[in-house]
Amino acid sequence: MNMSQWLRPRSIFSNFSNTSRTIAVWVGLAVLAAAFPWVSDTQAAASSGESRHINAQRLQGNLEKLSEFGRNPEGGVTRLGFSQTEMDARTYVTGLMKEAGLEVRVDAAGNIFGRRAGTAPLPTLLFGSHIDSVPHGGNFDGTVGSLGAIEVIRALNDGHVTTQHPLEVVIWTNEEGPHFGISALGSGVAAGVLGPEILDRKDDVGLTLADWLRRYEQDPAHLTDARIPRGTLAAILELHIEQGPQLYETKVQIGVVQGIVGLKRWKCIATGFANHAGTTPMNRRKDALAAAAKDLLAVRDVVREEPGRQVGTVGYMKAEPGAPNVIPGRVEFPVELRDLDAATIERMWEHIQQRFAQTDKEEGVETRCAVINDIAPALSDPSVQSVIREAARSTGLSTADMPSGAVHDAGEISRLAPMGMIFVPSRDGISHAPQEFSAWDDVANGTEVLYRSILKLDKQMNAR
Ligand code: GLV
Ligand code: MN
Ligand code: MN
Repeated sequence: MNMSQWLRPRSIFSNFSNTSRTIAVWVGLAVLAAAFPWVSDTQAAASSGESRHINAQRLQGNLEKLSEFGRNPEGGVTRLGFSQTEMDARTYVTGLMKEAGLEVRVDAAGNIFGRRAGTAPLPTLLFGSHIDSVPHGGNFDGTVGSLGAIEVIRALNDGHVTTQHPLEVVIWTNEEGPHFGISALGSGVAAGVLGPEILDRKDDVGLTLADWLRRYEQDPAHLTDARIPRGTLAAILELHIEQGPQLYETKVQIGVVQGIVGLKRWKCIATGFANHAGTTPMNRRKDALAAAAKDLLAVRDVVREEPGRQVGTVGYMKAEPGAPNVIPGRVEFPVELRDLDAATIERMWEHIQQRFAQTDKEEGVETRCAVINDIAPALSDPSVQSVIREAARSTGLSTADMPSGAVHDAGEISRLAPMGMIFVPSRDGISHAPQEFSAWDDVANGTEVLYRSILKLDKQMNAR
């Protein structure tokens, strides 16, 4: 019996079309989020480390070792997807997978899978995360879910526990995406939403994505071989740090993710005219950086225009030629918009474009923007959410249902299989920064919930 057959009859959204189901869920989530910024549905007794199956010390040791790859003097790591540093970290993590007895393979997008056989011919229960980071990022984003997944396998081995479903741990390629501008790259290819059109993308030093895949010992001509065939996955689970303040501030131990925001990203080029900074009168300039600065503020204004949780960011500006005595003639900057509702993102972008056109006129500049990343919002499966909630309760942990403002690989794989995510608290809500931290006890709690969720899904999904 395959997982989607098992889940659908129990899913409250099972009779809806995909589109109306999406709308219904997001309207529901929006109402919920507006009424209760977070909904704590259980305040159970504090957990006891003794009741855990997973080994918290072993997990911490492995996470600390992983944090050495790309470590920065100020703390945290820079371990970009498709970099030598990440390649070295991949070798370390692949070793851990093999030590755990997993049969390791790497797909054409560079995603690493480690398989543990099941006792029945059933679709695979897939779980894992990513080990790449943003520049000057933290030690917990992605790594907790990656090494937590390997720890789940180690704990099953220790307890001589078998499962009916085959289990696979996955380490997705280039989730963060600063390199090549594509977030959730590996999972996007696996889900079939990205294809060979991305291969010619060049990075700052002129290497293409295809070049990097070759360095990862993959043949870019076979990129689409990485697509996961529909029906082969029973479910996808991802353990992750929350990356926001809600769990930490409310002292709730486990977040049960209801859905993940959509993200759309554009690369914009403002073209003016590079000229002498001393001799060009102020009213005869075509200053691309002045225009881009106005554009940045326009993004912020438009996003703030309506109430809601939508966000918009201009993450950098590259001005050329980049000298104090030359008026910038060309500026590259990205625009990133996120919301639970894809229509809100489109509406904001319409307004932003109008504001950019106005600025172009005022500054004598031309600004062109092209989409470089488009990730649709994703829903967690209600039945998988229940399993996670029950797993947390059985461990004595409190839970809160919550949306995710960060994107995640599990979101892309939700196009193929029922998805669920487990969040653990982030200290002070800080992430994508060296100060990112989650208490080791919280990391262990999340991993134990992942362990129990996997076993519950394994039992329940094959019960009919
Ligand atoms: C990934 O962490 C993202 O949300 O950008
Ligand atoms: Mn992440
Ligand atoms: Mn991240």
